[in-house]
Amino acid sequence: MSQKRDPQDSCILVTGGAGFIGSHTVVELLEKDYQVVIVDDLSNASEKVLDRIDAIVGEERAARLSFYRADVGDRDALEAIFDDNQIDAVIHFAGYKAVGESVKKPIEYYGNNIGSTLALVDVMREHGCKSIIFSSSATVYGDPDSLPLTEASPKKACTNPYGWTKWMIEQILSDLHTADPEWNVVLLRYFNPIGAHPTGLMGEDPKGIPNNLLPYVAQVAVGKRESVHVFGSDYDTPDGTGVRDYIHVMDLASGHAAALAWMGGRTGVEIFNLGTGKGTSVLQIIEAFSSACGRELPYVLEPRRAGDVTANYADCSKARDEMGWEARFGIDEMCRDSWKWQSNNPNGYEG
Ligand code: UFG
Repeated sequence: MSQKRDPQDSCILVTGGAGFIGSHTVVELLEKDYQVVIVDDLSNASEKVLDRIDAIVGEERAARLSFYRADVGDRDALEAIFDDNQIDAVIHFAGYKAVGESVKKPIEYYGNNIGSTLALVDVMREHGCKSIIFSSSATVYGDPDSLPLTEASPKKACTNPYGWTKWMIEQILSDLHTADPEWNVVLLRYFNPIGAHPTGLMGEDPKGIPNNLLPYVAQVAVGKRESVHVFGSDYDTPDGTGVRDYIHVMDLASGHAAALAWMGGRTGVEIFNLGTGKGTSVLQIIEAFSSACGRELPYVLEPRRAGDVTANYADCSKARDEMGWEARFGIDEMCRDSWKWQSNNPNGYEG
């Protein structure tokens, strides 16, 4: 938003708004009285999430939400959305996100993630909307030289096409601002998003065998899988397992609202880490989830997974000092809410 506006007078387009982080952010925005438009092709999300959003925010706020089922790479569909709505800013979540799949399908990943971003910013430009928040990832830091990671830590080589798409889209959006300084770009680098809405109505709903640790652990807890496979127990960490900075999806959602409020009236390119600043090992996660679900979860130690770094965690002081944002939840709350979601919806939204 090149001008500062009250949330009631602002309309935010959320691409991928039916997905895991997108849906929680949409709830946060509606609760802050923004008008919200979701565009999502539902290729990796369920339409049922829309009912859950409505149930959480209530009828009055739900009336400020509209949904378009479309692919962000579909220019004609995007044009129609921008013609129908006076969009002030875009939060761009939509994209393929499976690390392993990206190694097998590089053309699809580069084509989809980069192609849709180019279509989006081109249509935004045509409609005079030059404010964008992009879902980036700590993956752009590669294998870190030192911890914690600050926004000034170097971007390094990624280990997979998914990571490179994040890396490249950051560059594309920065170049856009160089060419036209009216652009207002915020790159949010997420660490490891987990957790669920505390009501248990919304959460992560991966298709097939989960690639990420938390959804896998949650499926073991609910009895859908036998035991957790711990990838690597010989890392140079206190217990030998990989360390990550897990962040509650509710905190990520509030991070987007903080970024929107912060960017009003500004131009430029700004990067913020969104994490908690604390590292947690795989075994600590299994222990915390075991407490949350009231049963010792079985696990087996396996070799390291290719492409994994030993440890990463964020320095989040920039987001605190600039935007007044800080993560509020710890690992116990993240596991409690994940468990509530998983136990209430053992088969996700389709259950
Ligand atoms: N792990 C296991 N068993 C599993 C899955 C994961 O032990 O079944 C371990 C991993 O080895 C790692 C940790 O759990 O040590 C976290 O792994 P995740 O797959 O949950 O997350 P990653 O840190 O590998 O990846 C996440 C996001 C990516 C993003 C990256 C940025 O999923 O999108 O963080 O650092 F690129």
